Amino acid sequence: MLTLSGISKKFSQTPVLEAIDLAVTPGSRTAIVGPSGSGKTTLLRILAGFEAPDTGKITLQGRTLFDKQTVVPAHERGIGFVPQEGALFPHMKVGDNIAYGLKGPKDENRRRVAELMELVSLDARLAAHWPHEISGGQQQRVALARALAQKPALMLLDEPFSALDTGLRAATRKATAELLAQAGVASILVTHDQQEALSFASQIAVIRQGRFTQVGSPAEVYSRPVDEQTALFLGDALIFTAQVSHGVARCALGEIPVANPSISGERRIMLRPEQLIITATTASQAQATVTGVDFSGHLSTLTLMATGWASPLEIKTVSQPWLQPGATVGVAVQGQACVLSH
Ligand SMILES: Nc1ncnc2c1ncn2[C@@H]1O[C@H](COP(=O)(O)OP(=O)(O)OP(=O)(O)O)[C@@H](O)[C@H]1O
Ligand SMILES: [Mg+2]
Repeated sequence: MLTLSGISKKFSQTPVLEAIDLAVTPGSRTAIVGPSGSGKTTLLRILAGFEAPDTGKITLQGRTLFDKQTVVPAHERGIGFVPQEGALFPHMKVGDNIAYGLKGPKDENRRRVAELMELVSLDARLAAHWPHEISGGQQQRVALARALAQKPALMLLDEPFSALDTGLRAATRKATAELLAQAGVASILVTHDQQEALSFASQIAVIRQGRFTQVGSPAEVYSRPVDEQTALFLGDALIFTAQVSHGVARCALGEIPVANPSISGERRIMLRPEQLIITATTASQAQATVTGVDFSGHLSTLTLMATGWASPLEIKTVSQPWLQPGATVGVAVQGQACVLSH
């Protein structure tokens, strides 16, 4: 539905985006995740039509929005945009903010505003309030309602939940995802919160210094990250050196199957912490000694060491009374290790 190819952008000689390719299918949810300054907002602004790329092509539903010859202006793109900050017009009441851009007669607009407010779970009475009189979370929902009012084919959300506290953030994210699904609107969410990305999206694009390092499903990018930085960006990871051959990695934790049997040699491999199981029996492949326990209620962080290990391993596990410094434990590994590219 949406295709970006070869999008590049420089700001005064400094490359900010380089050769970005992306495809978004109708009604799907894509998250772009990456550190601050990696070019996320710039990419959304280019999509929305507020910024022109230096090179590349953008098409939406078969229509070219940007290429060498074409520049479709922002208001003709059929793309909704909820910006990172300053989304609302401060001098307009909430209802007028939502109605901004609606072209019908006044009565019909009022009805439509009420519908949209219900859609984003906002109390209809808030329509008569000024933006500064409502909470950050409510303001973000107003911005979303205003963008939805345009019935866009694609919705761009630039860190729309960042001002909310953890609980409200998760609830608003879920509500927004459901809302967009109901309306059949495809969306691109920008965030530097990897958990938010993993739970919101069906497709994740990891961006670093203006380049996509990996694009794939949440499970793919989480379990099979291309490199160490991507692995660590998406969550806790255990990374160590192994001898890889014939689909098996030999390492401090014993022999672990790897996904790609054609890889061989000394390589860095990655496991997610949930792939390690600490057992009381020492019958598993690897044994280790508990050298430290950081108790934090339900979970404890164990520091494990064994002869032949280059450095201790830290892993979170469900707290158990017998997990004390000095205890010997078995370490079993579930699933496959991911061989990193570098
Ligand atoms: N109008 C501009 N002129 C010059 N440089 C810019 C401009 N807009 C952005 N930049 C630079 O481009 C880079 C990418 O900025 P961008 O806002 O896209 O990052 P971001 O990934 O959205 O970061 P954040 O997570 O902090 O919002 C930064 O180095 C920024 O300073
Ligand atoms: Mg940004």
